[in-house]
Amino acid sequence: MVQVEKYKVTDQYPNMKDYDAAYESHDWAEIEKQFSWYETGKFNMAYECIDYNVEKGLGNKQALIFKNNDVIERYTFKEMQDKTNQAANVLKDNANIEKGDRIFIFMPRSPELYFALLGSLKLGAIVGPLFEAFMEKAVKDRLENSGARVLVTTPELLTRVPVDELPSLEKIVVIGDDVSADDKIVDFRKGMNDASTAFDIVWLDKEDGLILHYTSGSTGVPKGVLHAQYAMIQQYYSGKVVLDLKEDDVYWCTADPGWVTGTSYGIFAPWLNGVTNVVVGGRFSPESWYGALEDLKVTVWYSAPTAFRMLMGAGDEVVNQYDLSHVRHVLSVGEPLNPEVVKWGMDVYNRRIHDTWWMTETGAHCIVNFPGMEIRGGSMGKPLPGVEAAIVDDQGNELPENRMGNLALKRGWPAMMRKIWKNDAKYDSYFINDWYVSGDSAYKDEDGYYWFQGRVDDVIMTAGERVGPFEIESKLVEHEAIQEAGVIGKPDPIRGEIVKAFITLKKEYKPSDELKEDIRLFVKNGLAAHAAPREIEFKDKLPKTRSGKIMRRVLKAWELNLPEGDLSALDDD
Ligand code: PRX
Repeated sequence: MVQVEKYKVTDQYPNMKDYDAAYESHDWAEIEKQFSWYETGKFNMAYECIDYNVEKGLGNKQALIFKNNDVIERYTFKEMQDKTNQAANVLKDNANIEKGDRIFIFMPRSPELYFALLGSLKLGAIVGPLFEAFMEKAVKDRLENSGARVLVTTPELLTRVPVDELPSLEKIVVIGDDVSADDKIVDFRKGMNDASTAFDIVWLDKEDGLILHYTSGSTGVPKGVLHAQYAMIQQYYSGKVVLDLKEDDVYWCTADPGWVTGTSYGIFAPWLNGVTNVVVGGRFSPESWYGALEDLKVTVWYSAPTAFRMLMGAGDEVVNQYDLSHVRHVLSVGEPLNPEVVKWGMDVYNRRIHDTWWMTETGAHCIVNFPGMEIRGGSMGKPLPGVEAAIVDDQGNELPENRMGNLALKRGWPAMMRKIWKNDAKYDSYFINDWYVSGDSAYKDEDGYYWFQGRVDDVIMTAGERVGPFEIESKLVEHEAIQEAGVIGKPDPIRGEIVKAFITLKKEYKPSDELKEDIRLFVKNGLAAHAAPREIEFKDKLPKTRSGKIMRRVLKAWELNLPEGDLSALDDD
C-alpha cells in the first residue's frame, strides 16, 4: 500500500466543515429560491448571469477582466448587460433565430466571445462552443451533426470552415476588422456599433436547451452532449460550496469555453454567483500564468493537473518571483491529480489543491474535495450534496467499500445531460437501471472518499492482478527524471497484459537503458512488482487532449499499430 498523504483543514478553508450534515439536509428546492425564476417562472441563463446581478445592485461591479499579455480590458455587469444585449440584437437582426436553434462559436478567447455567447443565450438559442484549435474535419463534423444555423467566428478561423459543405449553415457572423459582409457573412463589429443596448430576452422553460458540447467517447466518435437551462442550479451551488466563491473574489478558471469546464465554471458558476471573472488569452507559460495571478490579484484559481505538472516542471524558483499571496483557494479538474502534485502545491504555494471530478455529461461537479474537508492525496473526494454516487458492478449492483468497479451516479442530478444529439441509443447506453455509468473505474474507501483508477477500458490485468494505470503514472512522475508518463496494458501471451510506460523526461535527463532499469526499480520498490513497467519507451511528447489528458487510447493504438480513431481533440502543437 502506498502511504496516503492527508491534508487537514485550516482556517484558510472553512467551508463545508460538516460534510455529513450538509449532505443529509441538502434540498435542491431550497437552492432554487436564489434565482429570479423562482418568483417569475421565466428562465434564461444569460439573464441570471448578467442582468439579474445588475438588478441586485451589482451593475458597477467588475464582471469580466480579460488579460492578453499586457492588454487588460475590464467590463462591469452593467457593461456586460449592454454588450450582450447588443450582440443579441446583431444576431436577431441578421438571422431568424428560433428558440432551440444552434448557434456555434468558433474563436479564441476574447471579450467578444463572451458577448456573443451570452447574446445567443438571450435569444433562446442553444450554444455550441468550439475550441479554436479545431481543424476542418472537426469543425465540419460538429456543425453538420448539430445542424447549426449560425456560426460566430473570426476571419482567420473562417478558413477552416467548409461553408459550401454545410447546407444548414445560413449565416456566418465574423468578428474582425474590415469584414466584407454579403448575404451570408455578417460584420459583427459594425453591427455592435449600430445595435441598441435594449433587448427583450427570450424566456425559456427549465428543460429547454442551453449548451451543446462535443466530447470524445471511448469509441472515439465525438458526440453532442446537450445540457438544459436547469443545470444552472448545480453550477451555482457548486460555485458556492466547492469553488467557495464569495462576494469579493477574483476568480480565474484557466479552461477554454470550447470545453465544459470553460462554460460551466468559466462562465456560468462565477457569474451566477455575481463574482469577478478573469479570462486570460494567449498561450500558457509559467511567467504569464503567475503574472496573471499576481497582476489581477486572483483569489480563487481553477486549473488542471497537466498545468500544475508543467508549473512543477518549471521549477520552484519561478514561483518565488511572483506575489501569489492573494490566492486563497486552488482547484483542479480533468484528469487524476497525482498525490505528488498535491504535495508540491503544499510545498510551494502553501495551499491545498482541491481535486474535483465530473464530466462533460454530468454538467457540473459531482465528486469533490470541499474546502472544509480533509484532503487525501490522490482521492477525488466525496459526492456533492444532492448527487448520489456509488460503485456498481456491470449489472448495476452496488459494490461494498474498497471494491473497484464502475463509478456511477443516480439518475436525476440537476446538471445531468439531457440527450446525446441525434443519438438516443448512445444516451441510453450510459444507463444501467437508474445508474448513470461514467466509464471510469474507482473505489470508495471506508470513510466515503472516492479513488479514481482509470477509464474502464484502460484498466490493466497483468498476471491476474488488476492494476490502475493512474497509480503507476503517479508513481512514475515522482521519479526525479520524469516529466510525464502514460501507461497502458500491452497484450502478452503469458501474463494477459504487461504494463508499458511511455515517458517524457525532464530537460536535464537523457534516455538510457540504465535509466529504464532505475525507473522500473523505482516503481517496483515504491508500488508493487506487478505494477513496474516491463516495457518503457521514451518519447519527446505524449499525445494529449486539448484539456491536457494523456490519451492512453492513442498510446495503445501506436503500440498495436491500430488506427488512432478520432483525434480531433488531440493537442498537436
Ligand atoms: O476519466 C474522467 C476524467 O475525465 C473524464 C471526463 O472528461 P471530460 O468530459 O473531458 O470532462 C473533463 C472536465 C469536467 C472522466 O470520465 N476526469 C475528470 N476529472 C477527473 C478525472 N479523472 C480523475 N480525476 C478527476 N478529478
